[in-house]
Amino acid sequence: MLTDTHTHLYLKEFDNDRVEMLERAKEAGVGKFYLPNIDSTTIGPMLEMEAGNPGVCVPMMGLHPGSVKANYEDELSIVEAWLSKRPFVAIGEIGIDLYWDKTFYEQQKASFIQQVEWAKVLRLPIIIHSRETIDLIIEILAGIKDEHLTGIFHCFTGTPQQAEEIISLGFFLGIGGVLTFKNAGLDKTVKDIPLDRIVLETDAPYLTPTPHRGKRNESAYLKLVAERLSSLKNMELEEVAAATTANAEKIFQKNPASYTTL
Ligand code: NI
Repeated sequence: MLTDTHTHLYLKEFDNDRVEMLERAKEAGVGKFYLPNIDSTTIGPMLEMEAGNPGVCVPMMGLHPGSVKANYEDELSIVEAWLSKRPFVAIGEIGIDLYWDKTFYEQQKASFIQQVEWAKVLRLPIIIHSRETIDLIIEILAGIKDEHLTGIFHCFTGTPQQAEEIISLGFFLGIGGVLTFKNAGLDKTVKDIPLDRIVLETDAPYLTPTPHRGKRNESAYLKLVAERLSSLKNMELEEVAAATTANAEKIFQKNPASYTTL
């Protein structure tokens, strides 16, 4: 069984065929879907998906760096209220994105650090968005992490050295559709990353793998990423599926007894 550790299936891009899309994913061997939150507008649809697919679609709670604006403190208090109301398996997706817009850099940083602090209190893993900011995030985490903190650098596209630093911090690498892109160079990096530090993800509806590039991504395409990884590692698809799913279980159920509220 494959596990999609990062997929935004609650977004409006799936409103017309959500049930069929989930069926296609299951037929492709994807049995579990972890849903990272974006901001206060996505919580309702995300929790609706959980209610319709309990134990299969699993929500996280957090504020995405792309949604950190002047009102970020209001958004953070909504995250805090949810973390106080019911347990979640992870805090995500959180991070710093300097690709699109640097206007709210300080606010993004403050928001990331606040959410890491909540993750430490709750002993939850964090799901990190680090576009153009891998080194910065590694530096911040090295300064504030405790012995329990772990998580995933989602959509990892960094260098072998960055991969090594992430692993030595105790974190995992989320590998998605970019692995199937020609000339991305991620294939060479991933070859040397130990399989016990890799989880698979689609980031649907974004980052569609080859040969569907340019179209909407969906969780069924996770199989294309898994196939590419198994050929790079010279392993059977089943072996890659079992190992990456086991890694996901380890991350998200690290401290089941401690799934608690703020
Ligand atoms: Ni995402």
